[in-house]
Amino acid sequence: MENLKKTILQNTIPNHVAIIMDGNGRWAKQQGKPRTFGHKKGVDSVRAIIEASVEIGVNYLTLYAFSTENWNRPKLEVRTLMSLLVSSLRKELKTFVDNDIKLLTIGDLSHLPKKVQKELTEVIEKTKNNKTLTLTLALNYGARDEIVNVIKKISKKVVNNQLSIEEINEKIINNHLYTFSLPDVDFLIRTSGEKRISNFLLWQVAYAEFYFTTVLWPDFKEENYYKSILEYQKRERRFGKTSEQIEKNINE
Ligand code: FPP
Repeated sequence: MENLKKTILQNTIPNHVAIIMDGNGRWAKQQGKPRTFGHKKGVDSVRAIIEASVEIGVNYLTLYAFSTENWNRPKLEVRTLMSLLVSSLRKELKTFVDNDIKLLTIGDLSHLPKKVQKELTEVIEKTKNNKTLTLTLALNYGARDEIVNVIKKISKKVVNNQLSIEEINEKIINNHLYTFSLPDVDFLIRTSGEKRISNFLLWQVAYAEFYFTTVLWPDFKEENYYKSILEYQKRERRFGKTSEQIEKNINE
């Protein structure tokens, strides 16, 4: 694994990695255990990938932890996910402080249990000046919901004469997204073999490279992550330009 790490460090590291952590339920089923067991094991992978991100110098890591659609799951599963969140935040606060990790969230937190909101507020406050890695948890997040909110916020400004219609551009839209303080996503990973975006960061992945692996989230560890990054480094990101322009690093 050290060799793998050395090889990837010789090339460009994606600045912003986003992950759809999928397959906890199936992993548990394979072990003959309840779905909630898979989520508990999934937390170990979260920890491993955060650590690995710090090791190789990823600056932004965004994890899809709970979608607006996840409320439809069995009550016990939702409750387990919420309590896992609280216990993990409590346990990891010291790691965040020691490793200079800043915690952010995206999504509508107002519908989360008060206990979760309180724990999040505390960790966000205590890590707000950290710089090495910005870890963003998407909680009660949905990209369409985010875009609806942006339209409402911008419309209000237009109605109140704080903004004219002509002034609306991509930058203004960016500034009203939950992710206003984050750069665009460079690399999107989804585990468990599903090849869908599932309402995650629709605007922000416009130029991202996508990586799908059949590995289930509780099995996705440092080595799998480094391999995915190696794959990212083999891709040519053109942003609409030609290969020749990229090779010569010319903009015209
Ligand atoms: C997807 O697996 C996973 C989730 C919906 C939740 C992810 C949450 C965690 C890993 C734990 C808590 C997170 C943090 C940040 C501490 P699935 O249930 O959809 O699996 P399946 O598709 O096999 O059913």
